[in-house]
Amino acid sequence: MLPSFFYGILYIPRNIFDYIGSLKVKKYIHSSKKIRTFKEDDFVRILDLHNSCFRKKDHHQIFNYSRLFRNIFYVFEENGKIIAYLGFYIHLKFENFKLVQKAVAFSGCVDEHQRGRGIYSTLYKECLTELKNNNVNVVYSCIRVNNAAALHVHEKLGFKIINSKSKMRGIEDFYQVKLKLDDWKI
Ligand SMILES: CC(C)(COP(=O)(O)OP(=O)(O)OC[C@H]1O[C@@H](n2cnc3c(N)ncnc32)[C@H](O)[C@@H]1OP(=O)(O)O)[C@@H](O)C(=O)NCCC(=O)NCCS
Repeated sequence: MLPSFFYGILYIPRNIFDYIGSLKVKKYIHSSKKIRTFKEDDFVRILDLHNSCFRKKDHHQIFNYSRLFRNIFYVFEENGKIIAYLGFYIHLKFENFKLVQKAVAFSGCVDEHQRGRGIYSTLYKECLTELKNNNVNVVYSCIRVNNAAALHVHEKLGFKIINSKSKMRGIEDFYQVKLKLDDWKI
């Protein structure tokens, strides 16, 4: 077991990428009327949803990124209650001498009593439109191989499987999916 000091050092590059990405995201504009972005008061409800959706109770990303990337942590409400959320972070990278905004969907969930009504599809589509409007070039996500509903929604929106990975980061087998937003429309 490495002492936490060494973990801190290992995460320095990651934290720098997060910070730089977050500076860009702070300037994003929001136009959707169907979804809104995260507010501090939402956190308890988001945590509730997260805990009911995922067996792995790892709150690190949801805790940090809902704040650092609050402009792209999207929530969907019905009758004043949050019933779904989808959070992204942005990293900047160079591709063919061009600076590219790369979004990663790190957590998304729909209230278990509200599934099968098209909510995730609507939420995701609105998120992608917002990201595209803010000049994000590409979106990535990871989906457990046995999560047929999530895979179906991603494929419906135009994502392509680019990789399948096995038992990484302590979770089950998953697909890595990618959507190029530059030429995306639905
Ligand atoms: C995955 C999840 C977000 C889907 O939310 P949802 O609001 O029910 O999704 P939607 O209703 O928009 O769409 C579900 C689609 O999957 C399809 N579907 C459902 N079960 C399926 C299955 N077993 N196999 C294939 N397709 C399936 C539905 O028919 C629907 O497709 P359609 O719109 O073309 O008819 C929700 O089940 C959830 O929160 N799961 C737990 C957390 C999770 O897995 N998050 C995603 C991480 S990538």
